[in-house]
Amino acid sequence: MIKKCLFPAAGYGTRFLPATKATPKEMLPVLTKPLIQYGVEEAIEAGINTMAIVTGRGKRAIEDHFDISYELEHQIKGTSKEPYLTEIRSVINSCTFSYTRQIEMKGLGHAILAGETLIGNEPFAVVLADDLCDAKKGVLSQMTELYKKYQCSIVAIEEVPKSETNKYGVIAGNEIEPGIFMIKDMVEKPEPKDAPSNLAIIGRYILTPDIFDIIRTTKPGKGGEIQITDALLTQAKKGMVLAFKFDGTRFDCGSIDGFVEATNHFYNKSKKNESKK
Ligand code: UTP
Repeated sequence: MIKKCLFPAAGYGTRFLPATKATPKEMLPVLTKPLIQYGVEEAIEAGINTMAIVTGRGKRAIEDHFDISYELEHQIKGTSKEPYLTEIRSVINSCTFSYTRQIEMKGLGHAILAGETLIGNEPFAVVLADDLCDAKKGVLSQMTELYKKYQCSIVAIEEVPKSETNKYGVIAGNEIEPGIFMIKDMVEKPEPKDAPSNLAIIGRYILTPDIFDIIRTTKPGKGGEIQITDALLTQAKKGMVLAFKFDGTRFDCGSIDGFVEATNHFYNKSKKNESKK
């Protein structure tokens, strides 16, 4: 039912400078795979086959990654190195990619609105590739299933230490099923004393397309940016938005600590898998 996934990938990634000066943050690898490929694979697992990517200046490596490299194909075809290309070939063959640019980086809400031209008038998923998730059943698969039941916008949440609420959008709501909250309030990056809970929004969303009109009329909020949190609160007040405590682990690969944790986690996992073989 959800056929398209939007990847806002236009941010500057300043926390990873100088690495992100000429390389998109989304292309930083955890082991051998760029962050955005993990996100695309999670979307494919959820039955989505149309990837819509919002890029910006200096992000062309993303387009090249999801395309054939004839030179490389020619060089390694039939050699012992060919298996290194298997995974990315399968990704490229199982979905389509379209791109648009966010001309000015005015925030996540603004980036999502820039994606309207690729999404049109249908519900869609959003993945922030710098939030890397590892779960038995992919987080987007869990969310698309929930969407089938409730047919409204859904944000993924997790509990964070109260001292860290100022890094996230934070929700308050009524728990209508175990781990599923009907949102009553949402605040972008509140100081711990002002946070309505310790339930933080992470980079996975299902959005209904009326969100575009709401973003269009959303004024710049925290940090002078157009915040998706503010638009979602308006949507929640008009109708219903759910917050979903997903099963799995999330790594904040937009921060150095999270990136190192993710690398160690996936390295240990790959070693375990190797020793099972
Ligand atoms: P972040 O604030 O984590 O990303 O935005 P950033 O701005 O790239 O990183 P720092 O803080 O400078 O290190 C969350 C997501 O929203 C996208 C980013 O690419 C990232 O995936 N984003 C943010 C946009 O696409 N456009 C924007 O204007 C802002």
